Amino acid sequence: MAMIALKCPHIRVTVVDLSQPRIDAWNSEHLPIYEPGLDEIVKACLGKNLFFTTDVAGSIAAAEMIFVSVNTPTKKTGLGAGKAADLTYWESAARTIAAVSKSNKIIVEKSTVPVRTAEAIEKVLQRNCSAPGVRFDILSNPEFLAEGTAMEDLSLPDRVLIGGKIENPEGRAAVDALCEVYANWVPSERILRANLWSAELSKLAANAFLAQRISSINAMSALCEATGADVAQVSRAIGMDSRIGAKFLNASVGFGGSCFQKDILNLAYICECHGLKEVADYWYSVVGMNDYQKSRFVKRVVSAMFNTIRGKKITMLGFAFKKDTGDTRETPAIDVGKGLIEDGAKLAIYDPKVTDEQIAQDMEGNTENITTFKTAKEALDGAHAVCIMTEWDEFKLYDWKEIYSVMQKPAFVFDGRLILDHEHLREIGFIVYALGKPIDPFLKSAEGV
Ligand code: UGA
Repeated sequence: MAMIALKCPHIRVTVVDLSQPRIDAWNSEHLPIYEPGLDEIVKACLGKNLFFTTDVAGSIAAAEMIFVSVNTPTKKTGLGAGKAADLTYWESAARTIAAVSKSNKIIVEKSTVPVRTAEAIEKVLQRNCSAPGVRFDILSNPEFLAEGTAMEDLSLPDRVLIGGKIENPEGRAAVDALCEVYANWVPSERILRANLWSAELSKLAANAFLAQRISSINAMSALCEATGADVAQVSRAIGMDSRIGAKFLNASVGFGGSCFQKDILNLAYICECHGLKEVADYWYSVVGMNDYQKSRFVKRVVSAMFNTIRGKKITMLGFAFKKDTGDTRETPAIDVGKGLIEDGAKLAIYDPKVTDEQIAQDMEGNTENITTFKTAKEALDGAHAVCIMTEWDEFKLYDWKEIYSVMQKPAFVFDGRLILDHEHLREIGFIVYALGKPIDPFLKSAEGV
């Protein structure tokens, strides 16, 4: 919304939320989320054509177009628990919109939703609006931005996808109205029109394909370790095939983030509901490979350190699910951390952007085995091992010689993001495990994988 406000000074954008503290934060110097470049844009537009308020009803009533961007988490209980998307917030937003609307509205689905949600929402809107003659046109406009690069992604998107009822004139007019907004800065050939269901499904499919690439290269990483190949060399070689492409081929300790796992599970669940068991199983295996990668990493740590990490201080550098964000949703650091604690480790955690409270919340109940630190230096003092969990640039710039001198010996580095100079570390004296790379002779004898 901030980007729309920036690129379209003639459009008045109002962001509403039920939470007063959240809205207060958006109106303050300290935005409630960290995203490079966002502060500047909000600052440039705030109070001009960008407003944040808790006046939900008034703002809906005044709007011509409403973007619904509420949470659609995975259902925790009931039918489809653990797989299906929970649409409670969406439905409640639709009921509010219906109750307060006195004029026609274009409703834009921004939240990632299961295929055919628009149909259900349309029914809720139509049946709950008491004002006569009010028309709701529903569009699907899935968001493809990635955290950490959101501002670049929004300002020059690969594509903008707008789904609507393009088979009828009213539906086409609604799609045109939203195209017009994006046309203020997005080249027209990058604005795609589709029918509603294709747009909804494309969002789930795009995330599933991206995650599948990571699981594929992670599967290769296990094979590389077993055979002495180097996963970075393999991904470079295959990525130069223009049909495959170079992006999203970095092996890692596992993908995280709020979307990949949730969207794949949701996609697989939809397949199951349509009797497509084999298709569902195919997508489940992408999540299965991700879980395997995380538990494989934990096994490597334990077996390398003589099969016992009980009472040992192990430092986790990074906790966010990727660099340049403070977001920890589904971060692999949670599962790896819990796995290490299960084997008795004492975790020291440092992340430049994640708060202590967030780590405590994510690691539920394990806090007596975890200490969080404000600097990496303190976190590393006296540690037996370091696990690189997030690819923050600053980790590459550390004085690893000095770090080595304050650690217990043998000092281990487990690079779950392949960002460090492993040869340099070995020269210093570290025992290095780098995911998907030929295994150190020291580690070779350890059982693992
Ligand atoms: C992802 C998609 O990339 C966006 O297009 C999509 O809009 C978004 O989900 C969403 O649905 O909201 P995001 O979760 O912000 O974006 O982050 P990604 O850059 O996709 O990274 C996801 C995870 O995969 C991270 O844990 C990252 O470290 C990992 N990853 C990524 C790898 O392990 N290897 C890679 O080569 C790339």
